[in-house]
Amino acid sequence: MLTRTGRVVDQRRLLGHLDRLGRIGADDRGGVTRPGFGAADRDAHRYVAEQARALGLVSTVDAAGNLFVRRRHAEPDRQVLLIGSHLDSVTYGGRYDGTYGVVAALEVLATLADRPEPLAYEPVAVAFANEEGTRFPSPFFGSKAMVGAVDQPESIVDRDGCPLRDPLRAAGGDLDALPSAAWPAGRLAGFLELHVEQGPVLENAGVPVGVVDVVTGRTVFDIVLRGRQNHAGTTPMADRCDALVAAARVVLAIEDLARQRRLCSVATVGILAADPNVTNVVPGAVALTAEIRDGSAGRLAEAERAVSQILAGLDPRLRVSLDVTRLSAPVATAERFRSATAAAAADLQLPVMTLPSGAGHDAQIVAAAGPVGVMFVPSHDGISHAPQEFTAPADLVNGANVLLGTVMSLLDPP
Ligand code: GLV
Ligand code: MN
Ligand code: MN
Repeated sequence: MLTRTGRVVDQRRLLGHLDRLGRIGADDRGGVTRPGFGAADRDAHRYVAEQARALGLVSTVDAAGNLFVRRRHAEPDRQVLLIGSHLDSVTYGGRYDGTYGVVAALEVLATLADRPEPLAYEPVAVAFANEEGTRFPSPFFGSKAMVGAVDQPESIVDRDGCPLRDPLRAAGGDLDALPSAAWPAGRLAGFLELHVEQGPVLENAGVPVGVVDVVTGRTVFDIVLRGRQNHAGTTPMADRCDALVAAARVVLAIEDLARQRRLCSVATVGILAADPNVTNVVPGAVALTAEIRDGSAGRLAEAERAVSQILAGLDPRLRVSLDVTRLSAPVATAERFRSATAAAAADLQLPVMTLPSGAGHDAQIVAAAGPVGVMFVPSHDGISHAPQEFTAPADLVNGANVLLGTVMSLLDPP
């Protein structure tokens, strides 16, 4: 099968890159653990930069640690059509999340490298830094820097209190020069992100290509409950102020926001730390981190209010603290990009369906600077953020060719 202009990506090279990158940060559960700004993440960025060079392309790193790949004779003043995703991963994550979009973008650039005729926009590939926020809890760090939206960068520390400054420098960035990573208004023509779906919709429908209409919004709650630490053998049940029991109620109530009350599409408590976490002690304090997601800003706001109400309804003897981070707002993709992707898939005789993204993506941050498009390929069993994440090679190749067709139609409208 060929795209409209007869060009396709080099599928052996595409799958080979994914295989090589799957070994960088490979962990003992068979997955990939490549937290942003760690050694494995640096190696992954270096691998992509080296491959770009081998393909005759030029790579640069900005102050945020974002890796950009351009054609050798890139037009500096032309608006940029940016394509890509991220290379960092969650702990015990999969090989495809983010990485697939970066290697597909690299292939698209390689395929377009020798086009002599002027293009409507300059195509540039990107690997955004620290999308996941696994070690440094500043998800979308790179894409936020690109749109000038990193809040108080000096205050970003990992969970052990290590500041971002040195790890960012080791990755080729520079905290002091972070404002230089922000793109001037008008430079971006648009951003396209190809990603594995990370959910079951495409596979269940038997459809190989997804066009995303809305990327979910996400609010994170850091909650600390302080009760009274005491002896587990001598403290009568009626006298206890057990922080872990209170936290258990919060976990279930937050789940119910989505499952029973349907105020938001999903709700999760992913972190729970009891103190002192000892068998014969009534827990004195618990820290938990929860998140809620929805494609509608109004629903997200209502679910946020419900979280405050849950906490207000707890045992009044507890001391409760709550930090709310509105990590990302729901974002709609651009109709022009959605139809370009649908047309590119049709050229390849691939069925498409439109669906929302329940996962967050750099595209929703970049949307502050220009139009964005997000496209998906199926995830086997809908598994992601887990070592079992898998997408069939044929789907990976099809998705990369749909990305190529989309990019070509935007660079060179018919
Ligand atoms: C990003 O990977 C997310 O958690 O959606
Ligand atoms: Mn992810
Ligand atoms: Mn991702």
